[in-house]
Amino acid sequence: MTHNLTPLEQVSPAEAINRAWTLPAEWYTNTDVFTREQKAIFRRQWQYVGYSGQLEQSGSYITANVGGVPVMVVRKADHSLAAYINICPHRGHPVALGEGKRRMLQCQYHGWTFDLDGQLKVAPRAEREACFEPSQIALRSARVETWGPLIFVNLDPQADPLLDQIKGLVSLAEDNGFDLNRHPVRASREHLIKCNWKITLDNNTECYHCATVHPSFRSEYHVDADNYEVHQFEDCFAHISPPVDADSSDGRWVDFHLSYIWPNFMVSGRGNDYFYTYTYVPIGPGETLQRNHFFFPEDWDEARVDSTITEIEQIMKEDWEVFERVQVGVEAGVVPHGVLLPDNEALLRHFQRKCAAALEVI
Ligand code: FES
Ligand SMILES: [Fe+2]
Repeated sequence: MTHNLTPLEQVSPAEAINRAWTLPAEWYTNTDVFTREQKAIFRRQWQYVGYSGQLEQSGSYITANVGGVPVMVVRKADHSLAAYINICPHRGHPVALGEGKRRMLQCQYHGWTFDLDGQLKVAPRAEREACFEPSQIALRSARVETWGPLIFVNLDPQADPLLDQIKGLVSLAEDNGFDLNRHPVRASREHLIKCNWKITLDNNTECYHCATVHPSFRSEYHVDADNYEVHQFEDCFAHISPPVDADSSDGRWVDFHLSYIWPNFMVSGRGNDYFYTYTYVPIGPGETLQRNHFFFPEDWDEARVDSTITEIEQIMKEDWEVFERVQVGVEAGVVPHGVLLPDNEALLRHFQRKCAAALEVI
């Protein structure tokens, strides 16, 4: 069957996937599609919200946004983690802001105060009400699970456990000796990209673009199809590539590796030397916030931390420029679909199939 007919008009997502075309251009620009994705994908899948170093002590908390829903994760007195919807049951203000450490969680609007189990303890003036019972009011819970130091929240009570969902990735990490607990977080960065979140993930499913977009990466690691390993699972995948100069390792594991968890999280690094997380948080149809946590050796000085991030960010910048130019292309709306290389871009097709299936259009 010939797939490389020039798409002249929009076909259904199912037909596009069947023809090895990309999802319709309007799926990257349309507010209704974006809203459906927030509900059908981001509120039902595991979402990375932070790392254990942020929650070491009882009362430590972090906040995040999951599919447009404010959430918080707290370290309870028994040292277990709890996740709550971060919306005050009084009038909707967030109960926690940013991150920090508190004995009790107090909403800054009218002062309602919750314990670390999410139970309302104090509502000012409530004692003057005949029919108001604080013990009947609590924050709503969400699921929280971890992979090593990485903390994920899921708003779907029926979701499969995180480690079941990513077991292919977990066993691959074990086989390679990838140690997520080896380094602390030494830096965090955020960057707003003017593109739809799917453009970032379409890109990261493949290293087809590496030869043209990333000159420094291509000079350091193999990017050709014969040497660039791809491991595909249903809800995750991994890329592994050996350095071009295999003698530079001193016997250490120094392969480039990138692990992806559906829908919008990646962790990437160089052997066990260092690694960093990526989260692509959808902000709007044409806006995505990239959040990174850099797990680097404790004994690196600040200059080495900064220079390594500069090197990594150079590669990120090369991608950001491409993402924003692609967004201009899809927003023009005159090329309804892209034409894929069915085998070389098989992972991209898998990702797009999952997007369409989540929205129940295939
Ligand atoms: S909204 Fe939280 S106390 Fe009023
Ligand atoms: Fe790239």
